[in-house]
Amino acid sequence: MPRAAELLRRGEVVAFPTETVYGLGANALNARAVARIFEVKERPTFDPLIVHIAELPAIFDLVECVPAAALHLAEQIWPGPLTLVLPKTRLVPDLVTAGLPGVGIRIPAHPVALDLLRQTGCPLAAPSANKFGAISPTTAQHVIDGLGAQSIPVVDGGPCAVGVESTVLSFMGLVPVILRPGGLPIEDICRLIGPVDQAVPDPDADDAAQPAPGMLSRHYAPRTRLLLVPTSRQATPLEGQRTGLLTWGKQPFSTGFAQIERLSTDEDLRTCAARLFAAMRTLDSADLDVIIAHQFPAHGLGIALNDRLTRASSGFVESQVDVAFD
Ligand code: TXA
Ligand code: MG
Repeated sequence: MPRAAELLRRGEVVAFPTETVYGLGANALNARAVARIFEVKERPTFDPLIVHIAELPAIFDLVECVPAAALHLAEQIWPGPLTLVLPKTRLVPDLVTAGLPGVGIRIPAHPVALDLLRQTGCPLAAPSANKFGAISPTTAQHVIDGLGAQSIPVVDGGPCAVGVESTVLSFMGLVPVILRPGGLPIEDICRLIGPVDQAVPDPDADDAAQPAPGMLSRHYAPRTRLLLVPTSRQATPLEGQRTGLLTWGKQPFSTGFAQIERLSTDEDLRTCAARLFAAMRTLDSADLDVIIAHQFPAHGLGIALNDRLTRASSGFVESQVDVAFD
């Protein structure tokens, strides 16, 4: 770990664990180091990075102001899976925010990440440690599988407990806006600060012209075609195709699947979130023609889980949709 901190201080990139997913970190105040993140990830520079800090007071160097509601959330939720977008100071390089006036900041709830931040002594810009558009890593091995060829050092902190990325909430307008559903349920935010808006992706706009950055229609995607089945509808393999099933709880499915990944035996969505990306990877490497996935309920963590599934998918299985909407 002291070595990882030393590398980061020297302007190199290091992958490290957070409670959500593994991040690919660099000194957020060093534009050259941040540029290396974009290079390793092959990420377009219109997609901004999240800046990680270890303690709340560190935020005041990075942002011009913190509205009362944002401060309340930070005090209640951090360390935790919530990113706040606030007006940046000149200290934050434009590359970090993709030229936007706001910077996304969070304190991760992982002891290894917090130790690393403290030892490094600077804020760390860190997107998920995967190639752009691929499934986010929730173990050190996932990072090595995806980025290993570039010999990026990885600090191993075990599997990520939350398993989906942070919820991103912007305070750049008059009303707080959810830019990305994630590991903190939106209901928890509303309970603390009242109603928030939700940014809606524009299906006709190209990726750089979305209402919020990172609203890419296809993202978090396995190589294998993935199709969705609504909650409570029986999933059935596609005829003549080696079909995998990604399901949870007591969702109904017929026989004949080549491989089944069941994320939970009960209705606990936290267990599902912690296992989703690893299960997607397992199915993706099982030599299948197609993966069928059950949707989650549209509340709590189910909103973030459905968001990731929808962006990984190419739509619904038509033969398995109709009855669900009776
Ligand atoms: O849980 C997480 O958030 C993980 C861990 C490593 O912290 N990080 C992560 O970063 O998911 P990344 O780069 O994969 O996602 C960053 C997304 C952007 O695509 C965008 O949606 C939003 O966060 N974002 C970041 N900074 C922003 C900004 N300045 N303005 C608007 N949206 C921003
Ligand atoms: Mg990502």
